[in-house]
Amino acid sequence: MTETATLRYVDGKEVELPVLTGSEGDKAIDIASLRKKTGCITLDDAYVNTGSCKSSITYLDGEKGILRYRGYPIEELAAKSRFVEVAYLVMYGELPSKEQLNAFSGLLNNSSLIHEDMLHFFQAFPNHAHPMGILATMVSSLSSFYPVPDEPTDVEERQIIANLVSQVRTIAAFSYKKSIGEPMTYPSYRLRFVENFLNMMFASPVQNYQQDPDIVKAIDTFLILHADHEQNCSTSAVRIAGSSLANVYAVISAGISALWGRLHGGANQGVISMLDEIHSSGDDGRRFIEDAKHKKARLMGFGHRVYKTFDPRAKIMKDLCHRVLSKPGMSDPLFDIAMRLEEAALSDEYFLSRNLYPNVDFYSGLVLKAAGIPFNMFTVLFAIGRTPGWLAHWREMRHDPDGRIARPRQVYVGPLARGYVEMDRRGETRVTSKSGRLIPVTDTVGVTPPKARFIDATHPTKLEPMPPARS
Ligand code: CMC
Repeated sequence: MTETATLRYVDGKEVELPVLTGSEGDKAIDIASLRKKTGCITLDDAYVNTGSCKSSITYLDGEKGILRYRGYPIEELAAKSRFVEVAYLVMYGELPSKEQLNAFSGLLNNSSLIHEDMLHFFQAFPNHAHPMGILATMVSSLSSFYPVPDEPTDVEERQIIANLVSQVRTIAAFSYKKSIGEPMTYPSYRLRFVENFLNMMFASPVQNYQQDPDIVKAIDTFLILHADHEQNCSTSAVRIAGSSLANVYAVISAGISALWGRLHGGANQGVISMLDEIHSSGDDGRRFIEDAKHKKARLMGFGHRVYKTFDPRAKIMKDLCHRVLSKPGMSDPLFDIAMRLEEAALSDEYFLSRNLYPNVDFYSGLVLKAAGIPFNMFTVLFAIGRTPGWLAHWREMRHDPDGRIARPRQVYVGPLARGYVEMDRRGETRVTSKSGRLIPVTDTVGVTPPKARFIDATHPTKLEPMPPARS
């Protein structure tokens, strides 16, 4: 028997709504029929309590600190897999066999170049352009060079996916080269995914790049930890853009743009800026904690919409920090500050009562910094890692026979219908009366301002002066 929930709403009326149960036992009240049955919609600002889809990609339990891709715990994947295997798992649902991995790696390799004409685009950006802006633009323009059919076959879909996973990495490295005024280093079939990226970033015609296996492992793990995170801000942007059947490059570009913000992927830059500021001000972190408690600052890398305990990715990232920064010559005073901040916050009532724990970004910037990744590339690395997740969601939607365009509703709180205020040549204002005659505003509100055009929506009788003309 289908489980239902009863909702008592306006005037004591009741309605039965179906309850769905996810594979891990999570319950959801299906409200799709609510407006039809009651005339009401639900309001959930910032989607705090709204499930936007059914998905079989990632499971997250924020109360217990559990994260699994396709059923596999993140801790095991981080310890035992490489990013390319995890990308395949996230997108196709299973860890690849040896043959599947070889075929996928071959596709990634063959797709790693971008059309030579695209190199001109890089020249047009100013040197200080943020690489996230370059990435979003370039990924969107891939659609002109690699047009996508409206209904790709399975083979075409595999090619599109390989293009994006591989070319996002190439574009990311090229955007860095552009920012430092060096020639691009092309991808190489001899190198694996992460080594290839680091080589494109740091090798030049006059210098080879010496790979450090610990750094390669750290970046690979970073990418695994970011591969998917269910319905976060950028993935929701991808799903919303994708639901209009926009081409996949535009869809992934939407995800990159949403990721850029400092409350989301941009937080890894925010954490380092914060730690730098604390370090240079001579604060041991206590002053900053006080500012955060008094809402004068935000403790970047802390808090999460879903996790109400430690983000499991943060634990792995913290271990990585220890490992990388304990290498000779790699210590970083910012790591000590981060640990002090964490300790202070985790023994403070303000943070405890709000369930504010370190999230993945609290330590990820330190790992990237130690790996020599430039500061403004941190969020770009997040985007490289998240691309398989975005593509997995795009793919899941594409193959959903019940897929429909995403179109939330709203509760309108603006002005009621009112008369349009016209202005004649002399600057006098008039409104149209019910009978269709023009009446001077003086007669309707009792005042005639010298020049007026806009009516303040919250005070319909108050007329606002025209802004001064620009020269
Ligand atoms: N420092 C100080 N106070 C905080 C913080 C913080 N980092 N985060 C939340 N709070 C307070 C907030 O002021 C509010 O207090 P009050 O109840 O007194 O009004 C309470 O905790 C609830 O916060 P919220 O802003 O309603 O929570 P949210 O779920 O809307 O926001 C968040 C989640 C991640 C945007 C937020 O915690 C935050 O801004 N953290 C810092 C930025 C950050 O690290 N972002 C990366 C998120 S993880 C990577 C990713 O997936 O993007």
